[in-house]
Amino acid sequence: MDYFEINGRKSLHGEVKISGAKNAVLPLMAAAILNNKKLQILNVPFLSDSATMAKLLESMGAKVHFDPNNSITVDSSSLDNPFASYDLVKTMRASFYVLGPLIAKFGYAKVSLPGGCAWGPRPVDFHLEALKALGVDIKIENGYVIATAKKITGNTIHFPKISVGATGNVVMTAIFAKGVTTLTNAAAEPEIQQLCNMLNSMGAKIDGIGSNTLTITGVQSLNSIDSISVIPDRIEAGTFMIATAAVGGKVKIKNIIPEHLDSVSNCLKKAQVQVDIGADFIIIESDGSNIAPTDMETNEYPGFPTDLQAQWMMLMCLAKGVSTIKENIYYDRFTHIMELNRLNCDIKLENSIARIQGNQNLVGADVMSTDIRASAALIIAALCAKGKTTISRIYHIDRGYDKIEEKLSILGAEIIRRK
Ligand code: UD1
Repeated sequence: MDYFEINGRKSLHGEVKISGAKNAVLPLMAAAILNNKKLQILNVPFLSDSATMAKLLESMGAKVHFDPNNSITVDSSSLDNPFASYDLVKTMRASFYVLGPLIAKFGYAKVSLPGGCAWGPRPVDFHLEALKALGVDIKIENGYVIATAKKITGNTIHFPKISVGATGNVVMTAIFAKGVTTLTNAAAEPEIQQLCNMLNSMGAKIDGIGSNTLTITGVQSLNSIDSISVIPDRIEAGTFMIATAAVGGKVKIKNIIPEHLDSVSNCLKKAQVQVDIGADFIIIESDGSNIAPTDMETNEYPGFPTDLQAQWMMLMCLAKGVSTIKENIYYDRFTHIMELNRLNCDIKLENSIARIQGNQNLVGADVMSTDIRASAALIIAALCAKGKTTISRIYHIDRGYDKIEEKLSILGAEIIRRK
């Protein structure tokens, strides 16, 4: 199994080009089910999750072709089997995104329930309750959701908690509903904005994009579009911002939408890191030794993303004093604490709040990835630590980061992938 070997304490300098967003390309590929001709998706990140979604679409009858220059073509005109198997869904929870468009297209879908994940139960009850409210009959049999809809009818639905996936799934079903669907407490994340904009360009009528209330006026059919370009990955960008702040150096993070990273830029500024924001780039400059302890809470967009919590925690491990982190999205998302502490970080979890005592004496060790973003935090820790660190189970990082070791090596890091 591949692992990373990292020799720490090499500062980062230069420019890094950010890839397309994992959390945007997956729902866009699912939405391609509703496009009746070839759709070219540009700026696709090279990730195992994109490949898993491609496999899933192919298993249902679509034709997917990976083109050079980071694009893929999805042709769903031949997709005729609305079935998503456990084998594929269990490897990637976002596979569940196919449920909404399959119901919209076929009036029927059989999709495996996603299992648990490393940081706790991650249920899909909001998806299912909202679909029921639109008139979809939902049965659970042998671990599969069997959804049947004779007629989809608009309704007003309030999500108990903001959910990215439930918003995306329900929007994709509601576009063909009879009447109007209003979703309150809906997700405003940029990736959901892009999904809604794509559907509108196909003829859907979705209002309120980017706010927490979405109004969907049902249409009878959609047009097909030729291409769409995936928005930049704000989580990958944020990871490089935090890595530069922690390791030290000066890095221009390019091809991004800086506004998507306002919460991260603001927290970094509070931590006394120099952040210069341009039209489509951010420059981070830091010597890594003057980080001010800064309390942080994760929140839904535009709040600080939970997908950068582990990386931020790592930065605070170097701060001059004590800081806290409150995780408001996934209460159990703290598996990285034990691994970071193996590198001489000093983190304690008290009533779901992480208390971090900073120090500058991180030392390399053998550690293990537990999920995509926890792995990113371990890489940053290893880059800051004295000596050698090995990180095993890096298949997690390959799910969500496009060639991270190449990008870091170009910036001056000593990171090698070994078999
Ligand atoms: C998406 C992102 C993931 C990110 C998360 C939160 C993708 C592919 N993944 O995941 O990287 O960490 O948003 O920003 O875009 N919940 C329920 N019942 C449900 C659905 C959600 O209780 O039916 C809860 C979850 O347990 C969690 C919260 O709602 O506490 C938000 O989860 P959600 O936004 O749905 O996460 P995902 O869409 O799975």
